[in-house]
Amino acid sequence: MEIDLKQVDAVLDTYKRRREFLIPILQDVQALYNWLPQEVICRVSEGLEIPLIDVYGLATFYKQFSLKPRGKHIITVCLGTACHVRGGPRIVDEFSRKLNIKPGETTEDMQFTLETVNCLGCCAIGPVAVMDGEYYGGMNPAKVSQVVKKYHGVKD
Ligand code: FES
Repeated sequence: MEIDLKQVDAVLDTYKRRREFLIPILQDVQALYNWLPQEVICRVSEGLEIPLIDVYGLATFYKQFSLKPRGKHIITVCLGTACHVRGGPRIVDEFSRKLNIKPGETTEDMQFTLETVNCLGCCAIGPVAVMDGEYYGGMNPAKVSQVVKKYHGVKD
């Protein structure tokens, strides 16, 4: 994917290049690419006059930021206690099997990234998975197929 740094500059301008907005700036920039490429981090560092090491420090501290390329669609499966006891690990396994990737990996065609998280704050509807921000409760293996198919013509 080509990186258009003008888009990064536009985000910086939206926040008037103020350092206190580093987190929302990184969130908005990440939304453009689904991850934070090195040249983007450098541009943010220059634009806000924050040392590169500090921007990297923050980006590595928060799990929401990714310094590795991620797919077009992000699947997050909850493995918090409530979801775990209701079969969360089976849901992860099923996504892994269907997409042929392990948690933390991205499919070769850059369509899907599989991630896990500890509690999404909606334990009552567990096990829960989130696909591109859309929540799916009461997950089971059959629903995994439906969710994957909805986003991409992945075969059984
Ligand atoms: S444990 Fe999964 S949403 Fe809370």
